[in-house]
Amino acid sequence: MQKPIRVGIVGCGNAAVFHYASFLRVTGIPVQVVGVTSLQKSRREAFAARCGIRAFDSLADLLSEVDVVDNCTPGYAHEPVSIAAYEAGKHVIVEKPFTGYYGPSDDPAFAGNRFPKETMLAEAVSSACRVISAARKSRRKLCYAENWIYAPAVQKEAEILAKGKGQILWALGGQSHSGSPSPAYGIWKLSGGGSVVGKSCHPLSALLYLKQIEGATRHGRPIRPRTVSARTHEITRVPAFVNKGFLRTDYTDIEDYCQIHLTFEDGMVADIFASEIVMGGVHNWLEIFANNHRTRCNMSPCNAMELYNPQEDQLSDVYLMEKLGTKQGWSNPAPDEYSTFGYPQEIQDFIEAVAMDRQPKSGMLMASDTVAALYAAYVSAERRGVEVDIPLDVTLE
Ligand SMILES: NC(=O)c1ccc[n+]([C@@H]2O[C@H](COP(=O)([O-])OP(=O)(O)OC[C@H]3O[C@@H](n4cnc5c(N)ncnc54)[C@H](O)[C@@H]3O)[C@@H](O)[C@H]2O)c1
Repeated sequence: MQKPIRVGIVGCGNAAVFHYASFLRVTGIPVQVVGVTSLQKSRREAFAARCGIRAFDSLADLLSEVDVVDNCTPGYAHEPVSIAAYEAGKHVIVEKPFTGYYGPSDDPAFAGNRFPKETMLAEAVSSACRVISAARKSRRKLCYAENWIYAPAVQKEAEILAKGKGQILWALGGQSHSGSPSPAYGIWKLSGGGSVVGKSCHPLSALLYLKQIEGATRHGRPIRPRTVSARTHEITRVPAFVNKGFLRTDYTDIEDYCQIHLTFEDGMVADIFASEIVMGGVHNWLEIFANNHRTRCNMSPCNAMELYNPQEDQLSDVYLMEKLGTKQGWSNPAPDEYSTFGYPQEIQDFIEAVAMDRQPKSGMLMASDTVAALYAAYVSAERRGVEVDIPLDVTLE
């Protein structure tokens, strides 16, 4: 009997919930989630009790019992937790954003939206380099948990692109909703930014992945991103904003809207929108305009089901879709949202990568290109949309 791969989860918030559920769905390879650690004892103990796993008082205690560290902390802790795990010889799964810039540790007055973005870009790229170097030195896997890459709609488009030998000319996509449930989100020194790093990362990474597939199929090497032009806004903090109570508004120093125009090294383009000001459930979408096909990936709302519910409270115990807002009237329930979003598929790939000693679909290249593009977007936004080169020399893969 093969020994199970032992996993320890760091953080017990929203991401930890769907990661844990996804480990339970892994097939073909025995996996055991041993335990969890986090900052607050009562919360980790409650999470551990719900899952029937151990609650560890510290990362050090957890490290000695596991093979894989699943880093579900907010962005500011991604680098220190991941590096500690590599130094202990563990494989690491790290949630998005891979890493970023979280301000100087000795400046309590740090406000990310006013801080020079060139410095942020350089520091974010250095942080990515440090994690990647630690992974390489330890010869352990770096699994970047960008679930969009594993979403069935994105994987189907990858197949259509590869087998049809298509070329993406223009792509359009976005992620928006009415505001993250995480208390860390909205404070730059914890989250590393707002809509750019928190939401646009998803469609961005999916597009980087598809251009990598296109390049590998047609030329034997990935097509990388080259430049970015971006605008960011703080819509819910504009004095004229009228708050009707349906959107989260307690952000301190992050943007709640962004648009990003990306060019690739083959001269093709993409446009990405992300925001915290959209009602009606999480809006995850991607549209591909290729030279031989056109695809719409409707990840959320996904239109597998249409429901009319005349009375809100009769479905109070039924989950319909992420951040729907109301269950009354017409909606598109997601029959298996975790799967539509790619969560179980990403965890399956990561466990297989560890067990079979191969690279995951979403690894170092994806993680580092995403960080470089996102923080180059902040430099552009600071200059009100001027085109900025994406520094890709960080990529070590
Ligand atoms: N892929 C997705 O769809 C998706 C969805 C939600 C969150 N995320 C990402 O997952 C990460 C976590 O987000 P969340 O919403 O679960 O956050 P959260 O605020 O709900 O939970 C964060 C958890 O991390 C713990 N933590 C913080 N710093 C720590 C440290 N230094 N050591 C140990 N534990 C620490 C906290 O105690 C808490 O349990 C973020 O990077 C977020 O961007 C991804």
